Amino acid sequence: MSTPYSSVWPFSGRVSELAAIRSAERGIVVAGPPGAGKSRLVAEAVNGQADARQPAWVRATEAAAELPLGAFAPLLPEEPPEGNPLGWAAAAITAPLLVVDDAHLLDSASAALLHHLVTHRRTTVVATVRTQTDAPDAVRALWKDDLLPRLDLGPLTETETGELLARALGGSVDPAATARMWRVSGGNALYVRELVLSGAMERAGEVWRWRGTWSMTPSLRDTIASRIGRVTGDEREVLEFLAYGEPLGADLLARLSAEEAVERLEDRQLVAVEQDGRRLRVRLAHPLYGEVIRSGCGVLRSRAR
Ligand SMILES: Nc1ncnc2c1ncn2[C@@H]1O[C@H](COP(=O)(O)OP(=O)(O)OP(=O)(O)O)[C@@H](O)[C@H]1O
Ligand SMILES: [Mg+2]
Repeated sequence: MSTPYSSVWPFSGRVSELAAIRSAERGIVVAGPPGAGKSRLVAEAVNGQADARQPAWVRATEAAAELPLGAFAPLLPEEPPEGNPLGWAAAAITAPLLVVDDAHLLDSASAALLHHLVTHRRTTVVATVRTQTDAPDAVRALWKDDLLPRLDLGPLTETETGELLARALGGSVDPAATARMWRVSGGNALYVRELVLSGAMERAGEVWRWRGTWSMTPSLRDTIASRIGRVTGDEREVLEFLAYGEPLGADLLARLSAEEAVERLEDRQLVAVEQDGRRLRVRLAHPLYGEVIRSGCGVLRSRAR
């Protein structure tokens, strides 16, 4: 037996999505939950293309959003505009292909610029946005007003998860291990990668198998904790009850803790409520949340209500 892992993490699958991005003439918005593989997919689609349109990249971040046009700053001239800043900025964007990663994080001036570039067909725009997060109106207008098509990146299927594992590990993978990985990761590419790095797979002869025990690495814990984000005291209580005893009846959970907390967690897609006959049952929205919460270490950060 040997411990995984090869250092390169090859790209796998997403064939129709690559084709959709490459053939989108005006551009496209790739939407999906955190870790679905949006940034990697777009990078794969625009890099190394035969027609070699050199893309300009904009990576929106919370820090850049504190300044108007902050995300676009690397593409703009240093001298300040004389007249209308939108026209000045638009004139400076000359690349035929513009990639805007995490467009939901753009400040409102950058979002207006992006909208302007699309409506005036100044450049082909490939943008990514996270679902489950608010985006500026001018960004949402891109797909709501049919300016660009929106491609929703779903979870990897079990087959795709198996292909990804086989490529990344460089060998054949026990189908039971693929099934397990798919269930635990929920088909989320980031979680698959982090689970492999956490030692969830081990080599037995020619085949990679699921390892019964694996350690939650700091990187996996941080990834999941940042997805969970900050929680109030009563939300934390609900998550902890579920981590140790899911699924729980909604009535029981409401008696044990605060009903509004369950509703807030459902709105944030941290818990899922499902109908079971005449009862409602509540579970954690992702199997890995339970692992993280049970592993403790204060990963659930507090926030005021
Ligand atoms: N098709 C794929 N093949 C191989 N690895 C992938 C694939 N898609 C994503 N990954 C890997 O999964 C991880 C998460 O992907 P990525 O960063 O693209 O997610 P994201 O949707 O952009 O997440 P975020 O919302 O946090 O920006 C990365 O390490 C990436 O290399
Ligand atoms: Mg990304």
